[in-house]
Amino acid sequence: GLPQQVTVYEVGPRDGLQNEAAIVPVEVKAEFIDRLADAGHKVIEATSFVHPKWVPQLADAEQLLDRLHRRPGVRYPVLVPNERGLDRALERGVDEIAVFASATETFAAKNLNRSLESQFEMFEPVVARALENGVRVRAYVSMCFGDPWEGPTPVSQVVAVGERLLGLGCYELSLGDTIGVGTPGHVTALIEAFTSPDKLAVHFHDTYGQALGNTLAALRAGVTTVDASTGGIGGCPYAESATGNLATEDLVWMLRGLGIETGLDLDKLVATSTWLAARLGRPSPSRVVQALAKG
Ligand code: HMG
Ligand code: MG
Repeated sequence: GLPQQVTVYEVGPRDGLQNEAAIVPVEVKAEFIDRLADAGHKVIEATSFVHPKWVPQLADAEQLLDRLHRRPGVRYPVLVPNERGLDRALERGVDEIAVFASATETFAAKNLNRSLESQFEMFEPVVARALENGVRVRAYVSMCFGDPWEGPTPVSQVVAVGERLLGLGCYELSLGDTIGVGTPGHVTALIEAFTSPDKLAVHFHDTYGQALGNTLAALRAGVTTVDASTGGIGGCPYAESATGNLATEDLVWMLRGLGIETGLDLDKLVATSTWLAARLGRPSPSRVVQALAKG
């Protein structure tokens, strides 16, 4: 069966803007987030407290958080890789963070400058200290389906990394298809290999056009939280073959068609996507936004 309700976890301001060639002004980022909240989003991943040299696009994380118009009932999680990042987030009064692990050795080295094993030494004190401070922690696992250097990722390897993160006390585990190579059968097999599908979210990049099909497979397997980005912008600067995320508007169109409640206003999402596209100087990549623009 399918769920009656789905939580859309919006990653546009973080995953989307981390991969833009141009640096987006902090005022535009703050307005973007405001518009997303206005469209009904209850969880908006705002930015990253990573090393500013590694992701210069998000080097203004402090300034952005100072400008956020926080609304009651809306969560604004931020990415945090290590204790330095946690210190920065705590100084800004953040109450939800996300750590991000790799399922593969090569991507752990490229994205985190760590080995598959030593990434946990980095995350353990982050999660422990966050929880002590009343901060909720989400965890991502990247390269869950395949990796540009190592090929297909074994299901057992993803489950081992993921269960270990859940064991640290993370409230949710988002399964990342960083380079978009997953297909629905693989999605079902991966989700079924976990002991608690209710703690899983899915994070599909749409490189091979599989993101909506994969999402449907995940919903049928019991997942009720789906990551998406405005217009489908996004990618990972440390995985060249990564392209954009599943577009929020395309996801909401499908869910609406299935009669699944999201609490989101599609017209406002489309208007925000068009507004952002103008700021980025190119059309929204979302198929739904393009189709609606033609009337
Ligand atoms: P490192 O070079 O190993 O860092 O990088 P270090 O711990 O050796 O520290 C070196 C220096 O950096 C020190 O300064 C630290 O203080 C400073 P020094 O003492 O030499 O003056 N430093 C920091 N400064 C500010 N903020 C920090 C920070 N950390 C250290 N947080 C590190 C390790 C993890 C920092 C680096 O590899 C990094 O920043 N990586 C982030 C890469 C990234 O953001 N990738 C994109 C997000 S992941 C993604 O997109 C995938 C996802 O969407 C899911 C999917 O699609 O699969 C989530
Ligand atoms: Mg991503």
